[in-house]
Amino acid sequence: MDNHFLWGGATASYQCEGAWNVDEKAESMWDHYLHQENLENGDVASDHYHRYEEDIRMMSEGGQNTYRFSLSWPRIIKNKEGEINLKGIEFYTKILDTCKKFNIEPFVTLYHWDLPQYWEEIGGWLNHDVCVAFAQYAKVCFEYFGDKISLWTTFNEPKWFVVNGYKIGNYPPGYQDTAKTMQAAYNVMYANSLAIEVFREGNYSGEIGIVHSYTPVNGVDDSIETKIAMRYADNYCNNWILDTAALGEFPIDLIAYLSKSYDISFMKPEELRKIKQYTVDFIGLNYYSRTLVKSYTEGETQLQFNHSGKKGESKVLIKNWFEQVKDPSNETTEWDTEIYPKGLQDGLVEAYKRYKLPLYVTENGIGVREDVSVDQINDEYRISFMNDHINAIFNAIDLGCDVRGYYVWSPFDLYSWKNGVEKRYGLVAVDFVDNQVRKPKASYYWFKKMIETNGALI
Ligand code: NOJ
Repeated sequence: MDNHFLWGGATASYQCEGAWNVDEKAESMWDHYLHQENLENGDVASDHYHRYEEDIRMMSEGGQNTYRFSLSWPRIIKNKEGEINLKGIEFYTKILDTCKKFNIEPFVTLYHWDLPQYWEEIGGWLNHDVCVAFAQYAKVCFEYFGDKISLWTTFNEPKWFVVNGYKIGNYPPGYQDTAKTMQAAYNVMYANSLAIEVFREGNYSGEIGIVHSYTPVNGVDDSIETKIAMRYADNYCNNWILDTAALGEFPIDLIAYLSKSYDISFMKPEELRKIKQYTVDFIGLNYYSRTLVKSYTEGETQLQFNHSGKKGESKVLIKNWFEQVKDPSNETTEWDTEIYPKGLQDGLVEAYKRYKLPLYVTENGIGVREDVSVDQINDEYRISFMNDHINAIFNAIDLGCDVRGYYVWSPFDLYSWKNGVEKRYGLVAVDFVDNQVRKPKASYYWFKKMIETNGALI
């Protein structure tokens, strides 16, 4: 591992900025949805909009050399006519200048789920026009911030916001509809290629990639049935994003399978050619766990998902495709996610072999209910989680993978989608109740040492 390895943390605009209607920011789809449903929201979140300087200074004092964050589309573009909000531009310029002041390399995501509500009102990701609008918004960002950013990504986790928003229905816009899921998935991947086209045509400096919620797939045994289930699971979990963004093609067997039951005429040949032509320079992988599968045998007859957030209740079951299971010998988090660092090592090796592109681990971390009233928060579970995952990255590098950075989710406590602020991931605690005071946890100091030794601490 060389000295340019990027060590830092990742956030998302909606989850940390707050200031949801300040300085002419337009409403986002998440503002609208959470207000309407009367759920805990990110109106204030970690108030990063006003405290970004302190947050970035703490990253730097914690030895970090990079910060991954997202730009809020509705903060930058006021309406569907594309009017630019100069106050939004000013805010991100200040963030970028602060990064520079503290020697922090910015790693910037264009879309981390906060679609402008004015687009959602006319169909959101189901409206094909949004693809062009996304590329125009990307161009505004490249023009204003291009000289300050060398690592861009288009989308954060297409699978997560598309499947939750259109199939499971627990995220806005709340559909449970397979045809709509396919249409939204296609539009997002097409928009990805349009933004990359703008980036290439504009000759902006730096590189552009995509961030995927990576769950490498394992099978419970070596049987042929399990192997088939694994392929379905891999297509569903990973390949429709990574193959499409990196190789320029949707998985052929997935399209063949879906076309038997659904009309896929919205996939236009000239657009597929564009997807083929404009692929990413690198891949960002968010890793929390793997997907362990067995073949589907019995049970419900329909697609069933259950991510209630309660232990023992998370389940993905797709008839004739695969059933997700857990290895009971592995520990799980409070939100029932299997802790499996080896999956990161195997997944990096697999992704590097398949795509031959530089990789970044753009998120990794553990969400916990924590008592943050104590003077020193001893989050040894987080230290051990991070240690084991960083170790897995080193192993992958030793095996020849080109991994260039590690971003913990998150550098400070944030709002978690639908889980509010009780699910804490930060290296720094935030007092969400009283005063927004920041307090480093033990993991913050541990991470600093890890960085100082460039990983040798493991
Ligand atoms: C994935 C997402 O990118 C982020 O927004 C989310 O809060 C974390 N993982 C934790 O679940």
